[in-house]
Amino acid sequence: MTDGHGIRRGLTNYGDRAFAQYLRNSFARSMGLSKEMLDKPIVGVVSTYSGFNNCHRDAPALVEAVSRGVLAAGALPLPFPTISLGEVFLNPTSMAYRNLMAMDTEEMIRAQPMDAVVLIGGCDKTVPAQIMGAISAGVPAVQLVTGPMSTGRHRGERLGACTDCRRFWARYRAGEIDGAEIAAVEGRLATTAGTCAVMGTASTMACIAETLGLALPGSAAIPAVHADRLVAAERSGAAAVDLIRRPIRPAEIVTEKSIENALRVLMAVSGSTNAVVHLAAIAGRVGVTISRERFNAISDETPVLVDLKPVGEGYMEDFHAAGGVDAVLREIRHLLHLDTVDVLGETLGARLARPLEWVDRKVIRPFAEPVSPVGGLIALEGNLAPDGAILKRAAATPALFETEGRAVVFEDLEDLARRIDDPALDVAADDVLVLKNAGPVAAGMPEAGYLPIPKKLAQKGVKDMLRISDARMSGTAFGTIVLHVAPESAVGGPLAAARSGDRIRLSVRDKRLDLLVDEATIAARLAAAPRPQPPTRGYRALYARTVQQASAGCDFDFLAGAGTEQG
Ligand code: FES
Repeated sequence: MTDGHGIRRGLTNYGDRAFAQYLRNSFARSMGLSKEMLDKPIVGVVSTYSGFNNCHRDAPALVEAVSRGVLAAGALPLPFPTISLGEVFLNPTSMAYRNLMAMDTEEMIRAQPMDAVVLIGGCDKTVPAQIMGAISAGVPAVQLVTGPMSTGRHRGERLGACTDCRRFWARYRAGEIDGAEIAAVEGRLATTAGTCAVMGTASTMACIAETLGLALPGSAAIPAVHADRLVAAERSGAAAVDLIRRPIRPAEIVTEKSIENALRVLMAVSGSTNAVVHLAAIAGRVGVTISRERFNAISDETPVLVDLKPVGEGYMEDFHAAGGVDAVLREIRHLLHLDTVDVLGETLGARLARPLEWVDRKVIRPFAEPVSPVGGLIALEGNLAPDGAILKRAAATPALFETEGRAVVFEDLEDLARRIDDPALDVAADDVLVLKNAGPVAAGMPEAGYLPIPKKLAQKGVKDMLRISDARMSGTAFGTIVLHVAPESAVGGPLAAARSGDRIRLSVRDKRLDLLVDEATIAARLAAAPRPQPPTRGYRALYARTVQQASAGCDFDFLAGAGTEQG
């Protein structure tokens, strides 16, 4: 090992380098590591096990398997913790902490003496946070995901978090099932280690990590409980050691071309709307901007090929058995940039030149026989969303694609909770539900965009309505739901001007979202609109002061942009 590598990297600053090295060696040996071990290159292994993160229940076994791979390849594995974000355990929303985890990841990779790193993530915000942090840290990195859950069973039916969570909850709200049955379902939705069992945000980000080239080929969809997940972990450790000998940094893997490839896969798998925000943030870390025009062009050119929930039928375990990301990439090969490289140093073209053993066409369709001829997501703009909004058209009701309706406006999340089920609420099935003040600055952008159908309409059988907000939506949800409206209402976006009784028009054909109120009236209403008071202390104050809008990925303004230097 040469000076400046392994245990000799980035010495603690005592003003005496030799003393710092001597002290570090001495303390490292207190962990029972021999001099020979300490002389090896070091691979940091990011352990995100947490008692507050069910999706990372298998992280300790993965750390062990990664470490085995690192050791066998001739380096020293050193596991270390970072923040872990368990989606359903965080208040007000995990999204508010993605950037904190990205900062933690970046700084701990940079501050500690490692030559490469394996990032073990899985639950929704963890993988984008780790990728963002690793890009900015500038140390060779391999992403390993914890893998999707396997399905449970309820009265002979397969269940998977969390599309079925929502489906059963909607049935309960509509009075179709009783309290005893929803209680039984509660224990059958999430029954193994791993991330949500459908093509939600975690699975989408896993597919994106593999497509970008940061995760090993074939690793995205291996179920959490499958032996092959441990094998992928072992290989990820070995790959990290190889990256020390042949350094390729994350910013050389995540490029404009690999980001476009990831957008193609996002469309083909009909992935989560949240991935749009995360990819924008990841792209921002390498100085790339995803324009709405390019996004929509990619969507219009790339069919949905994967038949999985929340839009279709299957679960992630089916996707893996069907051929996974490998099979999808081969179907859209002619649309991809084939000269991108992955953590193994292989180009995408070389990877895809190898034939696949078998593909289950029920789950992953041929390009010529898609689930849908166009991609699952589109970017909208109009006077209600000058900086854009997102609609998952694959999860929407086609009859609502060209809609004009009367707005029923909720001022914020509390107002929504207070009035949505009020029997006196003036609402009809063809109205448009609007939620304000749920954007990044106002509320940390929670997954509140899936506004519930008002109970009195749900009980009459109404299943979908046009819903609009500056919030996000769970990747496992479905409906005609316009999200990520930017600028958000709390910073003076036109959404703040919407009032109950206004007319709103959505056109999927024209990719527009408009408030049918004259511009002078909108301006006057915005001038008079109250602005929420931002928090004044701690992380939440930093967040409110520096978070960018959804169109820029909600990254902090001082973290975005190419480069690895610390300011
Ligand atoms: Fe962790 Fe869904 S709650 S992936």
